[in-house]
Amino acid sequence: METATHQGPPTAGFADHRAVVVAVDHHPWPYFTVTLEVPFANGEQKFANCTPGQFVMTLAEFGLEPYLRRAFSVFDIRTDANTTQIEIFGKVIGLGTEGLARLEPGKEVPLLGPLGQGFTRSASPTVKPSALIAGGIGSAALLLWARALLEQGEAFDFYYGGYAACDLALSERFEELARASGGELICATESGHRGHHGYITEPLEQALAQGRYGALYTCGPEGLMAKVAALGSQYQVPGQAALETEMGCGYGACLGCAVAHQDGRFRLCCKDGPVFALDEVVW
Ligand SMILES: Cc1cc2nc3c(=O)[nH]c(=O)nc-3n(C[C@H](O)[C@H](O)[C@H](O)COP(=O)(O)OP(=O)(O)OC[C@H]3O[C@@H](n4cnc5c(N)ncnc54)[C@H](O)[C@@H]3O)c2cc1C
Ligand code: FES
Repeated sequence: METATHQGPPTAGFADHRAVVVAVDHHPWPYFTVTLEVPFANGEQKFANCTPGQFVMTLAEFGLEPYLRRAFSVFDIRTDANTTQIEIFGKVIGLGTEGLARLEPGKEVPLLGPLGQGFTRSASPTVKPSALIAGGIGSAALLLWARALLEQGEAFDFYYGGYAACDLALSERFEELARASGGELICATESGHRGHHGYITEPLEQALAQGRYGALYTCGPEGLMAKVAALGSQYQVPGQAALETEMGCGYGACLGCAVAHQDGRFRLCCKDGPVFALDEVVW
């Protein structure tokens, strides 16, 4: 195992690692988690400054298809004396994600990161609780942020929506954090098999109408994030969204991930984001 400094454009703070698969856990299809171990390089923990909402680019194997690495939020991170373990929470939708779900412990994979700009506090911590709103696999971007809020003594409710019950794959982990913060887990499925029957933004809107939240943090399908942004604007609650724009390189070289902003300019999702303020994106 070795860690090499990335040879691409001069973007500070990330490196191209060779990580080793420690575990692959299969949740109800199509969800899985992969735990990757990254050794310290010269005694330095390369993910020490990784912030909630940042991401990595990885691939099960170099080849022609898929050719490019795929982007994944750093779902969880653990450090011991000599290594860092990065957990990725994935959903199989094509060859890249299928390859990761099929990985076996011991396999070495390329891991570029940590990349991008993560979540920052949108409102004063003491005023009102926050709402974290995840659509299915979007929950992958929110676990570390939920833990950070908890550690800072800030209460939050976790809104978890999906089409079916399987889309709320890791709800126990979010429920535990929300409860420890003094909040709760609120679920919704379009199929009606778990929680509110309908969209997760419906119970969110009821709570916003009662003035419950001071900040909104979201990740999920674009339609969900656009609705959260509209609700934030309507009820004058600030917030942030972690965008999942398709990416080529992940560090600002290919210009393939431009996101239109309200000021008429474009920002790169990989370098300036993936986390943006709800009211600065053109939804
Ligand atoms: C910053 C960031 C963080 C992400 N975090 C996670 C995560 O934690 N877990 C996870 O499972 N996924 C995450 N994604 C999405 C993940 O990168 C894509 O699902 C993955 O690239 C798909 O690769 P694939 O080869 O399996 O599918 P492909 O064959 O590349 O794509 C299958 C289909 O999905 C579409 N597609 C591919 N990528 C995206 C995308 N980003 N948004 C919408 N449609 C897409 C393609 O156009 C195609 O139609 C993240 C994306 C970004 C940009
Ligand atoms: S993914 Fe290449 S510039 Fe953003």
